[in-house]
Amino acid sequence: MGFAIAIDGPAAAGKGTISKAVAAHFGFAHLDTGLLYRAVGAKVLTGVDPIEAARALVAEDLDNASLRSAEVAEAASRVAVIGEVRAALVDFQRAFARRAGGAVLDGRDIGTVICPDAQAKLFVTASAEVRAARRLAELLARGDATSFEAVLADVQARDARDASRAQAPMVAAEDAVLIDTSSMSIEAAVAAAITAVEEART
Ligand code: DC
Repeated sequence: MGFAIAIDGPAAAGKGTISKAVAAHFGFAHLDTGLLYRAVGAKVLTGVDPIEAARALVAEDLDNASLRSAEVAEAASRVAVIGEVRAALVDFQRAFARRAGGAVLDGRDIGTVICPDAQAKLFVTASAEVRAARRLAELLARGDATSFEAVLADVQARDARDASRAQAPMVAAEDAVLIDTSSMSIEAAVAAAITAVEEART
């Protein structure tokens, strides 16, 4: 088995940016597992059954800019509570984690459920207000009209649903290194993540 790095945490904590930078630093492949749930959520918005959508998912479904919208994020969080949806996505994620050249997976349950044996585990978080401000800037940059209050309410609703669901709730693995990015620059957060992985490698 290759070296697997599990990076979990709530929406807009910086997980995606950190994961990409860590993967590039170590030359590992990267999988944003949220995209799997988003792709299922997007299909459900068009009327497809969530379990059918998860079972029929193919790699091309992940390559779609519309998966980044707030509406799809909300739909993703809703389908993610369904045990059969999660079960249908497990094998793909575990096969990715076993890649010989090393892998970084980011999500909510990577260190706890998908890769409990990952050689390095990080839990990246930040306050809900900081995360909402970051998400607002992203949405405004894309031309989506919204307000801080609306984005904060979405972030809090998604956190509550992701953390309280019965199946694979969002929680830090006991052996995860916690990185709170609330008052960190991107560079500092990436450096902290790389240091934590390097410590796990030795
Ligand atoms: O990371 P993200 O915002 O793209 O994730 C969208 C939703 O997908 C998130 O609210 C919960 C779900 N998700 C999950 O349940 N497990 C994962 N490993 C990744 C995402």
